[in-house]
Amino acid sequence: MIHALEVEGLVKEYKQLRAVDSLSFVLNEGEILGLLGPNGSGKSTTINCILSLLRFQEGTIRIFGKEMSPKAYDIKRDIGVIFQDVAVFDELTVWDNIDYFCGLYIRDRKQRRQYVEEAIELVSIGEYKKFYPKQLSGGLLRRLNIACGIVHKPKLLFFDEPTVAVDPQSRNSILESIVRLRDEGASVIYTSHYMEEVEQICDRIIILDQGKIIAEGTADSLKDLVKTEEKLIFELRSVSPAQLEALQGLSIVSAAVFEKNRLTVSLKEGTETIAPVLEWMKRQKLRYSKVYSERPTLNDVFLELTGKGLRD
Ligand SMILES: Nc1ncnc2c1ncn2[C@@H]1O[C@H](COP(=O)(O)OP(=O)(O)OP(=O)(O)O)[C@@H](O)[C@H]1O
Ligand SMILES: [Mg+2]
Repeated sequence: MIHALEVEGLVKEYKQLRAVDSLSFVLNEGEILGLLGPNGSGKSTTINCILSLLRFQEGTIRIFGKEMSPKAYDIKRDIGVIFQDVAVFDELTVWDNIDYFCGLYIRDRKQRRQYVEEAIELVSIGEYKKFYPKQLSGGLLRRLNIACGIVHKPKLLFFDEPTVAVDPQSRNSILESIVRLRDEGASVIYTSHYMEEVEQICDRIIILDQGKIIAEGTADSLKDLVKTEEKLIFELRSVSPAQLEALQGLSIVSAAVFEKNRLTVSLKEGTETIAPVLEWMKRQKLRYSKVYSERPTLNDVFLELTGKGLRD
C-alpha cells in the first residue's frame, strides 16, 4: 500500500542539538495526522526536512511512494505548505497574491481564475479580494496565507501551526477549511501545540517531545494510556493543605490539586461512583458553586508521559 508520506529514521542535528531524533511515521491517504508537541519539540524542523528545505543527517522521506529530494519537482507539485510565519506579498492584493501562487503551477488563465475563486471561497475571504495584506486582521491574513498554499489543489498538505494568535472566528474557519480539504481527498499533516484543535480535527495524533515520538494513536486511544479515568472539578474559594492531603488519601482518588479557585480531583481507573468524594466534601463543609466532570485531556497524556505540561 502506498502512503501519502513515509518518514523513516529521520535525524536532524543543529550542531550539538538533536532536534529530530530517529523519527519514523506514515501518513495515510485522506487522513489528517496531527503532530502535537510543545515549543521546540521539532515540529517545524520535521516539516522542513520532509520538504527538502533542510539537509538532514539520516533518514528517508517518501511521498506517494517516491523518494523526496531537493530536485524532485514532480513530487513538489503535489505538495502545499502553509508555513508557521505568514509569507505573502505586501504589494499585491488578496486576489493577486493567491493568483501569483496559483500561477506557479497553473498556466491556463481560465482554470487559474476558477482555482483562485475556489481558494477564496474555501477560507471565506470573498469580501476582501481587493484588500492589501496590511489592511487585514491577523486572522484574515492567516486565511490568505492558507489560500495561497492550497490554491493549486495539492494532494499532500502541511499546516504548521496555522491558528497561532488568531481570533476564535478565524480559528474555526481555518479548522473547517482543513477538514473540508481532507474530505475532498487531500492528505494533511497538521502541527500544533493546541491539544483541543488537534483533538477536534485529526484522525490520528503523534505526540512529540524533544524530537522524539512519545505516543501515537487516535485521541481516544492516547487517553487510554493515562491512568486517570476522570476528573471532578469543584469551583470554590479555598481548600487547606491538610484537606488536600486528606482528599488524596481517599481510596478512589489519584490526585487532588487546588489552583485558581478550582479543586481538581483525579479519580483512579475503574472508579464507578463519585459518591465518596461528594460525601467527603460535605463532611468537610466545603461548599462549592459548581461541580463538573472532565475526561482526561491530551495534556494529561503528555503530563503523565513526560512529567510536564504541553504549554510549559
Ligand atoms: N536554525 C536553527 N539552528 C539551531 N537550532 C535550531 C534551529 N531551528 C530550530 N532549532 C532548535 O531545534 C529545536 C526544534 O525546533 P523547531 O522549530 O523545529 O520546534 P517546533 O516544535 O516547531 O517549535 P514551535 O512550537 O516553537 O514552532 C529547538 O530546540 C530549536 O531551538
Ligand atoms: Mg514550529
